[in-house]
Amino acid sequence: MRRLLDFLDDRLGLVNVWRSSMSEKRPPAGIGWLRTIGYAALTVCVIQFLSGVALALHYVPSADLAYDSIRAFEADVPWGGFVRGLHHYGASLFVVLVVAHMIRVFFTGAYKAPREFTWLTGLGLLGVVLAFGFTGYLLPWDQKAFFATKVGTDIAGKAPIVGAAVREALNGGAEVGPPTLTRFYVIHVVLLPLAFVGLLAAHMFLIQRHGVAAPGRPVGDEGTPGEPYFPHHVLKEAIVGIAVAGLLFALAAAAPAPLEALAEPSDTSYQPRPDWYFLAAFELLKWFKGPFETVGTFWLPNLFVVGLVLLPFVDRGPERHWRKRPKTTALGVTTLLALAALTTAGALDEPDNPPTLPYPLGCNHAEKQGYLTLRRLRCTDCHEWTIDGATYGAERFDAPPFEEFLADYGPEEFFEVLDDPEGTLGTEDMPAFDYLSADERQALWRFLVRMRGGK
Ligand code: HEC
Repeated sequence: MRRLLDFLDDRLGLVNVWRSSMSEKRPPAGIGWLRTIGYAALTVCVIQFLSGVALALHYVPSADLAYDSIRAFEADVPWGGFVRGLHHYGASLFVVLVVAHMIRVFFTGAYKAPREFTWLTGLGLLGVVLAFGFTGYLLPWDQKAFFATKVGTDIAGKAPIVGAAVREALNGGAEVGPPTLTRFYVIHVVLLPLAFVGLLAAHMFLIQRHGVAAPGRPVGDEGTPGEPYFPHHVLKEAIVGIAVAGLLFALAAAAPAPLEALAEPSDTSYQPRPDWYFLAAFELLKWFKGPFETVGTFWLPNLFVVGLVLLPFVDRGPERHWRKRPKTTALGVTTLLALAALTTAGALDEPDNPPTLPYPLGCNHAEKQGYLTLRRLRCTDCHEWTIDGATYGAERFDAPPFEEFLADYGPEEFFEVLDDPEGTLGTEDMPAFDYLSADERQALWRFLVRMRGGK
């Protein structure tokens, strides 16, 4: 045993690594629980990776099938709903913890020399986490996903000079559409994980190199060594990691991740909303209109980013304790309050989207096209439809609900009504749909047949 260890150590040098980074490393005394937030974020990161791989094994990255593949994952794969819940809530928790970690670093002045680059790599990681959130939001291809992405890429499109090109590159065309889904998927599962791992490696390397900043001590004073890293700090980090994982598991078990109706691009009445961590930026969009629009969409957000990047190079005073640097502390608190106010304002201004007609899982391509055609033609603007106790659409002009007349029709009569409602029903209230292609009519009919149980 001893000889095997020696043999391995000669080649790999792991004992030295263990000693220098674990058992003999002594971070400065006085390090509290707040220093574990970064590791808590890392725990969520691991859960995101595992749940993401499970989702990716079943997800189909095409506009045609993405939505159904998510529904099938939840309905048919054991623990599918739970795993999607983990990934959904994990994304939010990830952002919360990364931001909390950043706030801790800000108020303890830990970004000061010699740790400027640790701060920069951390900022990069935050950017990647937000990009994960933005690209992942589109993947279920529901209404919420589609229209939030439209707002997001439109915002990118308003940036000066390069905006239009960036928007087109993200969309894979002029508008959000099937190519956008492919691009976001590749960004989400290939490019961002690579960027994340690279930045994380640099971040961890720098933390190893410079150690943890001594709490409350000025720059240059690395404090007195405290408890050894192993087992003292490792234990604390493990406790926080387990607590965070427990919280995430509880969230995923408590409520399923939301999924709205399948995206239908022509649905102009849909009021979009991004995920909560973009609400502050979304709120700015409402404040700055017309010629000042780019103040909200581009200048303010980017000024904020530039401020964060420059922070450790501009704020070069020796003090780290928040009480001894009142200006920076005041700036930080003001910024946080402003962000919290914007986010709250955005959250209170909740859009009121009525429930959209669903379609059953397992519809074939024609039936699904029929479903989308029915939504595009807005039949449920006049004909209500009650399915499984839930009512969709609205009743106008005394139009009968779908479930009432569905069984009465054969295809020929149905097409006659569509072509000429006035001639067949004597009504002027229903518009004629005589311009539909043969495929569209057939698809519409197939969907209705499906909905009345196949006859
Ligand atoms: C602007 C409102 C409006 C829209 C949109 C509309 N309809 Fe109608 N529809 C009506 C009204 C009103 C009637 C009832 C006419 C009557 O019998 O007096 C009707 C009747 C019908 C009927 C006959 C019902 C029966 O009791 O026999 C069918 C079938 C029908 N609609 C199908 C559709 C389909 C399919 C669409 C979408 C492609 C659609 N309608 C869109 C207003 C509308």
